[in-house]
Amino acid sequence: MEECNKAKAEKGVMRWIDDRFPATRMWQNHLSRYYAPKNFNFWYCFGSLALLVLVNQILTGIWLAMSFNPSAEGAFASIEYIMRDVEWGWLIRHMHTTGASAFFIVVYLHMFRGLLYGSYKAPRELVWIFGMSIYLVLMAEAFMGYLLPWGQMSYWGAQVITSLFSAIPGLGPDLAQWIRGDYLISGITLNRFFALHVIALPIVILALVVLHIIALHEVGSNNPDGIDIQQHKGGAGVPLDGIPFHPYYTVKDLVGVAIFLFVFCVVVFYFPEGSGYFIEKSNFEPANPLQTPDHIAPVWYFTPFYAILRAITFSVFGLEAKFLGIMFMGGAIAVLFVLPWLDRSPVRSMRYKGWMSKAMLLLFVVSFVLLGILGVLPSTAGRTMLAQVCTFVYFAFFLLMPIYTKLEKTKPLPSRVTG
Ligand code: HEM
Repeated sequence: MEECNKAKAEKGVMRWIDDRFPATRMWQNHLSRYYAPKNFNFWYCFGSLALLVLVNQILTGIWLAMSFNPSAEGAFASIEYIMRDVEWGWLIRHMHTTGASAFFIVVYLHMFRGLLYGSYKAPRELVWIFGMSIYLVLMAEAFMGYLLPWGQMSYWGAQVITSLFSAIPGLGPDLAQWIRGDYLISGITLNRFFALHVIALPIVILALVVLHIIALHEVGSNNPDGIDIQQHKGGAGVPLDGIPFHPYYTVKDLVGVAIFLFVFCVVVFYFPEGSGYFIEKSNFEPANPLQTPDHIAPVWYFTPFYAILRAITFSVFGLEAKFLGIMFMGGAIAVLFVLPWLDRSPVRSMRYKGWMSKAMLLLFVVSFVLLGILGVLPSTAGRTMLAQVCTFVYFAFFLLMPIYTKLEKTKPLPSRVTG
């Protein structure tokens, strides 16, 4: 009887809320009655993992900001203070630094899934464009966060990247100075990067994630077969190959979360520096504007693009090599935005595409990884040549796509998902 009254009261509370706010409707539309294809595989857990890492970054970031001092005089010392004196400060900081690298690992795998199954193709172009916008803002967010500990690599990394803007003909030098707020990276730059890193960009990322998911749920998820599950519906208008996201995929995603957290904890507790890739060695020295480190390299997740920048050693049509390098680096990201219009294949998934698409995707992945490795290493003549070949392959994958996806013979699509 008491149980029954409690249930009635709860129903009453829910009804009261629903009369004023679509809580139940939202829960149903996005979870309990959102029918996702039943053949999702492990590639489909990286979206929820990206959400998890986003929450981790926001929470640990808030706690770091409580003890961080965003000034040129105090920043480095305040990080040491967090590491040594703040209760659990070392854990919070290492969760944040490891989280930054984890974010890019998860997002790169999430994007690769899109390439593998053609998730960017119609009708999911906007899902992809919102995703790419998240990626772009995420890069800015990571770049600005990296200046905050005010170590040698923070300082010189920011100096190298901001001075790239000065290579733009005409407005370049003024633009670089406007970004820094000074002639060189200084406390003023640190202060504005802090403001953007802790409040402005996280708001933009959160808003974009909401738009990304709304756009996805409007058209429905793709799947490893790349076929439309809405074509075959049962009596109640429910797709025959669809299952409610909750509880089926919430439970399935928990498996991914458990594996992810295991690896994440191993890194946080045993290898927080990630052999100098997650926290670079020279960042244990305070920033010194008078002493350039021997070798300046960005953090690993930027190195493929940095390698493309350095690969351009020649000038064309009177354009300086440095400016051309910036154009190629920008182009390498810009071309991803128009991907949905480059792929002319009648099928979405690699499972049914021809050998040319498969070979090109493999070459693209190999060259992207090689560029990432080359971007970490100091350049030599041989490495520059390899980076030029990889840059060529990178662009060929995208720019030749309208041709090879049209030319190749695809396999016939099944009418129902194959599992
Ligand atoms: C903070 C970063 C991001 C978060 C939290 C996020 C979240 C999600 C979630 C929860 C899903 C649905 C589950 C899934 O299919 O995995 C999804 C799907 C998708 N995301 Fe993201 N995403 C992020 C970044 C990106 C980026 C950078 C791209 C690509 C440029 C992207 C492209 C896609 C696509 C194409 C889908 C649909 C996949 C399909 O239906 O096959 N996302 N995202």
